Amino acid sequence: MKIKYIYIKTWGCQMNEYDSSMIKKYLEKTGKYLISTKPEKSDILILNTCSIREKAQEKVFHQLGRWKKLKNKNPNIIIAVGGCVATQEGQEIFKRANYVDIIFGTQTLHKLPKMINEIEKNRRFIIDISFPKLEKFKYFLEPKQTGYTASVSIMEGCNKYCSFCVVPYTRGHEISRPSDDILLEISSLSENGIKEINLLGQNVNAYQGPTFNGKICVFSELLQLVSEIEGIERIRFTTSNPLEFTDDIISVYRDTPKLVSFLHLPVQSGSNRILQLMKRSYTTEEYEEIIKKLLKARPNIQISSDFIVGFPTESEEDFQNTINFIKKINFDMSFSFIYSNRPGTPASKIKDDIDLKEKKRRLYALQDCINKQTMSWSRKMLKSTQSVLVEGVSKKNIMELYGRTENNRIVNFKGSYNMIGKFVKIKIKKVHTYSLQGELI
Ligand code: SAH
Ligand code: F3S
Repeated sequence: MKIKYIYIKTWGCQMNEYDSSMIKKYLEKTGKYLISTKPEKSDILILNTCSIREKAQEKVFHQLGRWKKLKNKNPNIIIAVGGCVATQEGQEIFKRANYVDIIFGTQTLHKLPKMINEIEKNRRFIIDISFPKLEKFKYFLEPKQTGYTASVSIMEGCNKYCSFCVVPYTRGHEISRPSDDILLEISSLSENGIKEINLLGQNVNAYQGPTFNGKICVFSELLQLVSEIEGIERIRFTTSNPLEFTDDIISVYRDTPKLVSFLHLPVQSGSNRILQLMKRSYTTEEYEEIIKKLLKARPNIQISSDFIVGFPTESEEDFQNTINFIKKINFDMSFSFIYSNRPGTPASKIKDDIDLKEKKRRLYALQDCINKQTMSWSRKMLKSTQSVLVEGVSKKNIMELYGRTENNRIVNFKGSYNMIGKFVKIKIKKVHTYSLQGELI
């Protein structure tokens, strides 16, 4: 049997990265395929798409146009399109690009080996963008591992329907994996040397997983159970939502040191009027209340957020409210985006009345404000001792190692190879824009 090569291109969030790592494993497990980094030398080309922002559809057809040229040279090439654009566009993709063989959704990736098999036999077009609940996890293999950190998906989808967002339409409604499956998987990762776990989901704090005895395990309980797994020394999660960030979760910050003192809790805007139009279902005052309680439970916690600027009708005053809120909360970091009109969402019906130049001005002003705060948080770390999980040899200087602090900063320092994969204590000596320099204690 001739081994076939597969090339996968992934756009988008950590969930998509996670899904692509699953696709790789499903296909490699068949023993028929190997992953390649060269599309021009591959037999199967897979595009895992994202539609959260920008002109997602156009980007997909541009990419497919490039792959069409490869298929013209070799008609046996199989092209598969998956992810959020595939789920939204469905048959439309095939209508515009009839050389595509497979269209799969965010919940049907485990069916890919079978779909490819069928195409190889009959060469027919196949589409499956259905939402079979949690089925993909039944075919679950090991999760993605990067160094000594692993991401573990605990829930999928979203029910919040923020007015600007496509996720509820492309990934379906919230559904949680059984807690025992998650815990077993993390135990096995720990046996393989993983020290840090990142629990993944669109709204991890809405987690409600069934347990073996027919009960429901909520997010705060899951965090505690993960912290009891031997060998796991750091726990992170992405993403949580201010809605349902309940007191029991805040208490875990008090009682569970393994949970990092760094929280990504997207607020999106500092204007209550805009938050209401975004259908975020909380106010800035409620958000502030959560942060106050968190600071009581964990005085050194640092907060990061996502922001959208230029939401339709956002006035200069609304924008200034966001800037003031950034200063008030003293956010450490952020991902910030210009509002992008997503077809089919409620916000797309509100007139997008701010010109692009103004949106860009607001974006840069916001980023400038946050960058100053990031630097000042980093400067506070000078002379402090940090626990660093050593990830490998420094990218800039092969004489040094690098690792990550609890608050997600890269630290370079001189050390020995046997430290890789372990926690070491490092004293911070210098602060650069994107990294820190430290010394082993
Ligand atoms: N569940 C997360 C959001 C996941 S989407 C939450 O509750 O915050 C990741 C980020 O993409 C969002 O936080 C938002 O800032 C951004 N985003 C989503 N839709 C967008 C749009 N239409 N335009 C611009 N940014 C958007
Ligand atoms: Fe999107 Fe809002 Fe859910 S931003 S992912 S609909 S919480």
